[in-house]
Amino acid sequence: YYDDRCRVQFTADQQGAFSFVTTMPGKYKLGYYYRPAHIHYRVTAHGYREVVTQQYFSHDTSLGVNDPCDTCNSGSPELILDVRAPTADDLLQIAQLVSFPVNKVVEFNPVMSH
Ligand SMILES: [Fe+2]
Repeated sequence: YYDDRCRVQFTADQQGAFSFVTTMPGKYKLGYYYRPAHIHYRVTAHGYREVVTQQYFSHDTSLGVNDPCDTCNSGSPELILDVRAPTADDLLQIAQLVSFPVNKVVEFNPVMSH
């Protein structure tokens, strides 16, 4: 992370693929209620419209109507990622990045348009 707002910037490969290892984000209060755990994304690519979005995690009890943010779309299925255990292939790839155990994996494929 490069600042105190927990932001990071990285570049995808030639096919647009990217991966990273991080800690599972927590929830934070907005008024009396908690926002669902999420990661903000700003995705840019030459010749495409910028995508600014948030990505949520399945089985979070603060999604949708329970989210105090009215404009965050946390009930949108395309923004809610399935959290799963890593496969053997995932573990091989993760071992090249970090030496600590990783027990959850999500896949996020932001779609960009011209
Ligand atoms: Fe946030």
